Amino acid sequence: MLWKNIKGLVGAYDAPPPYLKGREMGSFPVLENAWLAIDEGVIADFGPMETFPGIADWTGLEVVDCEGKYVLPTWCDSHTHLVFAASRSHEFLSRLEGKTYQEIAESGGGILNSARALQEMSEAELLSDAHQRLVQAMRSGTGAIEIKSGYGLTAEAEMKMLRVIRTLEERVSIPVKATFLACHAVPEGDWSAAAWTQHMVDDVLPKVADEGLADYVDAFCEKGYFGLDETRLLIDRASRLGISAKVHVNQFNAFGGVKLCVDANAVSVDHLEELTSDDIAALASASESGQPVIATALPGCSYFLGIPYTPTRKLMEADVPVALATDFNPGSAPSSNMSRAVQLAILKSNMLPIEAIAAATLNGAAAMEVADRAGVIARGRAANVLMTREMNGLEDFAYDFGEEPVEKVFIDGAAL
Ligand code: NIG
Ligand code: FE
Repeated sequence: MLWKNIKGLVGAYDAPPPYLKGREMGSFPVLENAWLAIDEGVIADFGPMETFPGIADWTGLEVVDCEGKYVLPTWCDSHTHLVFAASRSHEFLSRLEGKTYQEIAESGGGILNSARALQEMSEAELLSDAHQRLVQAMRSGTGAIEIKSGYGLTAEAEMKMLRVIRTLEERVSIPVKATFLACHAVPEGDWSAAAWTQHMVDDVLPKVADEGLADYVDAFCEKGYFGLDETRLLIDRASRLGISAKVHVNQFNAFGGVKLCVDANAVSVDHLEELTSDDIAALASASESGQPVIATALPGCSYFLGIPYTPTRKLMEADVPVALATDFNPGSAPSSNMSRAVQLAILKSNMLPIEAIAAATLNGAAAMEVADRAGVIARGRAANVLMTREMNGLEDFAYDFGEEPVEKVFIDGAAL
């Protein structure tokens, strides 16, 4: 397949970097008026139209004119809860009627509500629903994804979720990473946050590690959920088993979780709607040392809950690598559409279009350690790319805010 007259080929590298620091994100490359050759599902070559080599052999060749359209690497969604049992739209209605997200959670709704439904659902049914959601996410342009457990809230149901994620991984060719969200909410009954965490690290984590069911662990480090001691215990125990961490932190309150995660070499810290200057300094020094912790903003969650947007501009100015993800889940962000996250980051989180795109591709790949196979366009890589509709510039991702910017998605060179 030969694509010619591409308005801008985005994120194409001869030698791709592993991630981009904050101040580098604006230089994510855009090759104007370009061509791209895909052969047997792999990126064969690309370049500017002036150097277009011409076509020697037309046999079996499909030539596509991409006039006015951009071509990008597929999105890398590094934070999702895509495996869940049921919609929570009735809770959304309660919010519209005046209750807050926290009030709903405190009265047994929220994560506990999702857990009750998930415990009762069979693994087969859970898998089939999650597979459908994954296919939909891919159709909207996602070409690498991280998926968390955390709606099980029993040892058995957490393992069930993780097995579903591993089966999803077998069913698609794109990278799928599994995160054991061991500390998401304290289950009903006699549990305390400390006792639940102890149970998870003593009784469940070893099994999860043994069966190879998780690439990462995660905790909801937040007032009313899990504190610094629990988060530290989980990260330490996991790290002894060779599993690193991606952590929900600073969604509603900032109380030192970011520093804890930086000191523990987490791969990413996610949410960050509330950030102190100490938090930013900790992330900046990690970035400076060359061992960055990726700061992942989830603008869909801010939008849907009406909470502040992550101060991505401040993070980028401190040279922290920023990623964007959907947080796709039935409670706080019921959308798996990464283009929407990009649009919100541009409109609401003060990111330039090219910065938001770098955050949603290369840095998202880095936030799940798959930057060697996703997040950029490079020769010899799987042809996982998306084509936009005709645009005046990349700002149209947000300017035409009612339109779907992605027109076609290709995985291994095949249109979805
Ligand atoms: O990332 N904050 C914790 N977990 C999810 C939402 C959980 C839910 O409401 O189901 C999040 O927003
Ligand atoms: Fe989340």
